[in-house]
Amino acid sequence: MTDRYAVIGNPIDFSKSPFIHMAFAEVTGQDIDYTKVLGSLGEFAATVDAFRAAGGQGMNITAPFKLDAFDYATERSPAAELAGAANAMKFEGDRVLVENFDGVGLVRDVVHNLACPMKGRRVLLLGAGGAARGALLPFLAEQPAVLVIANRTVAKALALSDIARQHTHGDTQVLALGLDQLLGRSFDVVFNATSASLRAELPPVPATVFAPGALAYELAYGKGLTPFLRLAQNAGVQRLADGVGMLAEQAAEAFAWWRGIRPPTSEVIRQLTVPLD
Ligand code: ATR
Repeated sequence: MTDRYAVIGNPIDFSKSPFIHMAFAEVTGQDIDYTKVLGSLGEFAATVDAFRAAGGQGMNITAPFKLDAFDYATERSPAAELAGAANAMKFEGDRVLVENFDGVGLVRDVVHNLACPMKGRRVLLLGAGGAARGALLPFLAEQPAVLVIANRTVAKALALSDIARQHTHGDTQVLALGLDQLLGRSFDVVFNATSASLRAELPPVPATVFAPGALAYELAYGKGLTPFLRLAQNAGVQRLADGVGMLAEQAAEAFAWWRGIRPPTSEVIRQLTVPLD
């Protein structure tokens, strides 16, 4: 029988997950069906209950339900615990396992697809909301020399850096700063994990944060040259990326978790890439 999966969100029309997972299923020869579910606010649990009762085996979760999925779980992975949010669920009888693959997908895209090692490098993470939180553990596992978490609201950066220090491997130096404290510092990899790009806003950071040869990575996907990427480009940065690879890699992680086989991602990334201009 065909195994059923879905992505739940509100809105959900925009989601590329069905395309991605059906492409993975085809290339790996897995017999699955993957659909979109429009969740109603306040009815997350009832909607997921119904999907499970109809034989559903797993779901991805997108906004605004990542916290609801976390609460719905019976077991949470360390990544989900740290992020306080889930982006994938697996149903096994009465058990509901949740994961958060966003951070691991992001790091895999950077280190593997973009061939940009983070070990021993200076890394700047802009933002201290949900997206930044999700990236924390996988970033630290790469053992950068320095991880600076910079946020408009410094208190949130400080709180995140406290958590980060409890999870450092090796001798990574973790620092929390306000966006206005970045002058005079430069980095090899700069991530924009703020939600500014979703509103075409620019997080106020000096163009000098980009070291020669730096990679500028926008976690948002499909927005073309965002104000952050334009800032980087104007500063002479040649390595610009958006979150298309992160999207494909977190999906591949979920697929492997569900199906026990890791699909290749390059073709999906190629098909979903929106030019950065
Ligand atoms: P997400 O889940 O996308 O991370 P979030 O948890 O609401 O969303 O966090 C949004 C992040 O983007 C925060 O770090 C926010 O900064 P504050 O903590 O100071 O609010 C940041 N952010 C949003 N708009 C921004 C802007 N225009 N400039 C700088 N930072 C911005």
